[in-house]
Amino acid sequence: MTTHEATTRTLEQLGKVSPEAVSEAFAALRALFDHEAASQGGDPEKWKVFVIAWTGRKSGVLSQITDNWLKSASKELKPVVGQEVNRLKSYIEAVLESRRLDMEAAAEQAAAARDAVDLSLPGIERAIGTRHLIRQTYEQLQRIFLSIGFSVVEGPEIETPYYNFEALNIAEHHPARDNMDTFYIAGSRCGHLLRTHTSPMQIRTMEKQKPPVRIVVPGKVYRRDNPDSTHGYMFHQIEGLAVDTDITFCDFKGTVEYFVREFLGPKAKTRLRPSYFPFTEPSAEVDATCHVCGGSGCRVCKQSGWIELFGAGMVNPAVYGFVGYEAEKLSGFAFGMGVDRLAMMKYGVSELPLLYQNDVRFLSQFP
Ligand code: DAH
Repeated sequence: MTTHEATTRTLEQLGKVSPEAVSEAFAALRALFDHEAASQGGDPEKWKVFVIAWTGRKSGVLSQITDNWLKSASKELKPVVGQEVNRLKSYIEAVLESRRLDMEAAAEQAAAARDAVDLSLPGIERAIGTRHLIRQTYEQLQRIFLSIGFSVVEGPEIETPYYNFEALNIAEHHPARDNMDTFYIAGSRCGHLLRTHTSPMQIRTMEKQKPPVRIVVPGKVYRRDNPDSTHGYMFHQIEGLAVDTDITFCDFKGTVEYFVREFLGPKAKTRLRPSYFPFTEPSAEVDATCHVCGGSGCRVCKQSGWIELFGAGMVNPAVYGFVGYEAEKLSGFAFGMGVDRLAMMKYGVSELPLLYQNDVRFLSQFP
């Protein structure tokens, strides 16, 4: 008879009628349990069967011995059998619980190993965008002017003729309107247009703000030019305006020279050439020594040694009249730069369209 079969009989039937014999019978059961537990593999289904065989309510070993060994035990043996049943029960439960925890931990470990990420694998590289050359140039320009007390303001791209022309001292039939061929907004009763320069923001700023004024104005401007290698119907400017009670031509020249050195390098020299703009008097074209040859003459500067940078001048007192400033007490200077031009010049870009085609082979040259 196997030990398992023995649990279906009573102790008496088994001939275990002394306390020693009872203890032996329980020791044999425990040894059997240990043996079976030790020979379990990792299969969870087989483990379940094993657990039920020992602890199952109906025919598990523990129930069997409670029914067959304990209940039928003689009065004298009952306390011994009871004690042995309890001992075996706690032992089996403790072993099963500890094995259950072990198996759970092992399963968790296996799952973790399955989901583990190999940190040594190279990642997926996502290309990170960079700022466009125009944006980078704007930032350089703004940083230079911010460093000497200017602030940055922006304004509308759709303007009225008043701000774009009249208040800048460009009267209706003034020839200066001709060389800024203008896009007008169809159907606009007040003749709205796309601003041809950032200068209208001089007027808008002075209308709103009492002197002193020190601003730069970045922004897009539009002209009806036929696109070619140096022209487009949209380009970028940055406007500057400084007005205060005692700004002199020396301040103007000093500011311009500081700017040129900061933008092109400490060796760059500046030259002012007489020019004409209705809103400045006197007006000047600001030239810098050629950044390629340093002034000795080359193909880039057409052998002149100089490169034209931007237009500027002392604010024409007539402009103050449009914004309610007291012309006798104030003075100032203004300038307007083509940012595309400055970027092309500084970085040796030969064709304007390259700035707008968004070809990464071009863009990635300016990380
Ligand atoms: N607005 C002029 C243009 O677009 C550029 C300019 C010249 C602006 C002289 C100024 C200035 O503020 O003083 O051609």
